[in-house]
Amino acid sequence: MTNLPQAIDSIARQRRSVRAFKPDPIPQDTLDHIFAVAGTAPSNCNAQPWITHVVSGDALTDMREKLIAAVKAGEADEGAGHRDNPYVGIYKERRIGAAVKLFEATGVGRHDKEAREASFLRNYEFFDAPHAAWFFMPPAFGLHGAADLGMYAQTLMLALTAHGMGSCAQGALGHYSNVVKRELGVDPELHCIFGLSFGYPDEAHPSTAAITDRAPLSDLVHFHG
Ligand SMILES: Cc1cc2nc3c(=O)[nH]c(=O)nc-3n(C[C@H](O)[C@H](O)[C@H](O)COP(=O)(O)O)c2cc1C
Repeated sequence: MTNLPQAIDSIARQRRSVRAFKPDPIPQDTLDHIFAVAGTAPSNCNAQPWITHVVSGDALTDMREKLIAAVKAGEADEGAGHRDNPYVGIYKERRIGAAVKLFEATGVGRHDKEAREASFLRNYEFFDAPHAAWFFMPPAFGLHGAADLGMYAQTLMLALTAHGMGSCAQGALGHYSNVVKRELGVDPELHCIFGLSFGYPDEAHPSTAAITDRAPLSDLVHFHG
């Protein structure tokens, strides 16, 4: 019998954002299994508002080209809300902390604008992952749907980790969901907050050294009573 407490602790702690993948595709039966596990996530009223599109192979190569062209042409989805900036104060500090770790690990100089841009564009190359997923939801779900989709995606990421795979959640993929909807024939009314690149991690890549830390528990959790 598996030691369940140890299993969940270790899977949650092992999960990290993977930003370098091997090209090997995940077999379809494994994909079916992982997405079924993701679907066990809770949701408001069990509505399961996630509408997931997984793109692989030549379709992903095409998507990569289309997205990079759209990024370079500045054709971001105006409805994606990415121009709001919640990163002020302590949130800005944490954001910078995570970015500095990635830049240091991958040799991107603090003032090297070109290298920083190339690093950002890696989002739209899916960090060379063989698969990318976009999570859509009907627009009326709003914040409730965002909570549901977050739980679904975290369950998916933990399942991938437990099975020896890795992933990176990417708001950057949501910023151009207009392009993705057009290419995949998805209802343009659906909302997409983020996507996910996933596959087998390339552990030899320098980005692997960028391990984020967390704020102390006492800064984040307030116990009463
Ligand atoms: C909803 C969401 C959107 C994210 N967007 C991006 C992104 O666009 N690009 C990226 O490289 N990482 C992105 N991340 C990864 C975060 O930077 C990462 O989770 C955070 O720095 C903590 O690091 P860890 O995942 O390795 O624990 C995103 C994470 C989440 C949950």
